Amino acid sequence: MPAGEHDFVVVANRLPVDISVDEEGSLSWERSPGGLVTALAPIMRKNDGAWVGWSGQVDFEHPPFEGEGMKLWPVTLRADEVARYYEGFSNATLWPLYHDVIVPPEFHRTWWNSYAAVNRRFAAAAAEAVAPGGTVWVHDYQLQLVPSVLRLLRPDVRIGFFNHIPFPPVEIFTQLPWRQQVIDGLLGADLVGFQRPGDAANFLRAVRRLTDLQVRGPQVTIPGRWSRPDRTVRAQAFPISIDSESFDQLARKPEVLERAKEIRSEVGNPDVLLLGVDRLDYTKGIRHRLKAFGELLEDGQLRVPEASMVQVASPSRERVDQYRQLRDEVEVTVGRINGDYGTLGRAAVHYLHHSYPMEEMAALFLAADVMLVTSLRDGMNLVAKEYVAARWDLGGALVLSEFTGAADELTHALTINPHDIDGTKATIMRAVGMEPKEARRRMRGLRRRVLEHDVQRWADDFLGYLAMSVPPTTDAGPE
Ligand code: G6P
Repeated sequence: MPAGEHDFVVVANRLPVDISVDEEGSLSWERSPGGLVTALAPIMRKNDGAWVGWSGQVDFEHPPFEGEGMKLWPVTLRADEVARYYEGFSNATLWPLYHDVIVPPEFHRTWWNSYAAVNRRFAAAAAEAVAPGGTVWVHDYQLQLVPSVLRLLRPDVRIGFFNHIPFPPVEIFTQLPWRQQVIDGLLGADLVGFQRPGDAANFLRAVRRLTDLQVRGPQVTIPGRWSRPDRTVRAQAFPISIDSESFDQLARKPEVLERAKEIRSEVGNPDVLLLGVDRLDYTKGIRHRLKAFGELLEDGQLRVPEASMVQVASPSRERVDQYRQLRDEVEVTVGRINGDYGTLGRAAVHYLHHSYPMEEMAALFLAADVMLVTSLRDGMNLVAKEYVAARWDLGGALVLSEFTGAADELTHALTINPHDIDGTKATIMRAVGMEPKEARRRMRGLRRRVLEHDVQRWADDFLGYLAMSVPPTTDAGPE
C-alpha cells in the first residue's frame, strides 16, 4: 500500500472538532473540548500530524483538510453504521460489557459485522495517512480491531493503542462471542495502554486464556513468520489526566470567580452546595447519588434551603435504549425529591440536562462545597480531576467512588462504595462537616497529584514507551 505523508497519526472514533456546513456547502469547525487534543496539539504540529475520525454526522463525506494545526481526516459513516457500529456494538455491547455489565450487553451478529467493517475503514484511512516508519496512535474501545488490520496494511509503522475505559475481568470478557477477534485485533499494536494496572492485568489474563502466546510480565511475544523476527506487545497502565494548568488558570479568572458567586446566589445561597457533573450514563451512579441525597433530606440530616444539589447531566447517546430509560428514571427521581422536599422558589435538586462550556464548569466547581463522583465503574473520571484543578483556593471536598480509575491516584479524596447507600450518606455528611483545616490538607494533596500528572505527561509517557518498541521491519511482505 502506498505510504502517506504524516509521521504521526491519531485514530479515534471522533474528530477533535465540531464541523458545520452552511447552505453554500462551505465548511467550518470549532475545536471540541477535551484534554486529548490539547495534549497532542504540540506533537501534531511538530510531526506533521493527522487525526483520523468520524465527524459525528451521518453520511458526512469530505476529503482530508487542514485545521487546528493538523490534517483532519474524516471517516464517513452511513446511517446503518451509526446504528450498528456506534450505537449498537460500541455502546450497547462493548460499553456495558466493559463496565461490569451494569446493564446487560446485547450481542448481535449484524452489529459485529458492522463494527469489523468500520474498523477496517478506519485502519485503511490511517494506512493511507501515515508516512514510512511513522507512528499511529489508536484510541478506545470503538476501534479495537484497527491495530491488527493496520499492521497487515503497513508493517513498517509503530502502532500504539490506548483503552480509555476499563478492561473487564476475563470471566466477563469471555462472554463476548467475538472475544478472540478483539484480542487478536489489540495484539496488532506494539504498546497497549490502559488506565489502571488492574485493566492491563485483565487484558494479559485474557491473552493467556485465549491464545497460546507466551506472556512474561507485561510482554506478549508474537512468533515471527517467514523471515520476520518475533515481535513483542507490551501492556501497561498509563492513567490519563487533564490539562491541569489551564484548568487552574481558568478558575482564577475574575469573571469565573464572579460567576461562581452568582451561581450560589441563583440557587439561593445555601450553606451547603453539593454538585454532580456527568454525561447522562448509567455507569455514573447518578441514581445512587440521588437516592443518598433524597434519604439525607428524608432523615433530616440535610434540609432545604440550607442544603441544595446541582446535577449537570449532559446529553449522551440518546438513541440507545438504556440511555433513554436512564434519563426517564433520573428525571422521575429528581421530580419526586423536589416534590417531597422543595419549597416555593427553592428546589432540592437543580437538574440541568445540558452541556456547558469550560468557563461555566469551572465556576460550578468553585461554587460547590462537595463534589460527588459516584460512578459504579469508570475508566478514569476526569471530572474528579477537573474539580481538583479548579480548587486553587483549597476549598471544597471530593467524594469519590472507589470504582473509578481516579481513586487509584486521588488518595486524599473521601472514597465511597456507591452501592452502599448508608456508607455514601455517612461520607457525604463527613464531607459537609469537615473541618476547614482537614479539607485544605486533603485538597492540597489532591492538587499536587493532578498538577504534576497532567495530560501532557500522560501523552509523553505513552509515546516514550511506544518509541522504545523494537523498530518494525520496512519490507512490506505479509506477516
Ligand atoms: C467516553 C469514551 C470516549 C467517548 C466519550 C463520549 O469518554 O471513552 O471514547 O468519545 O465517552 O461519548 P460519545 O459516544 O459521545 O463519543
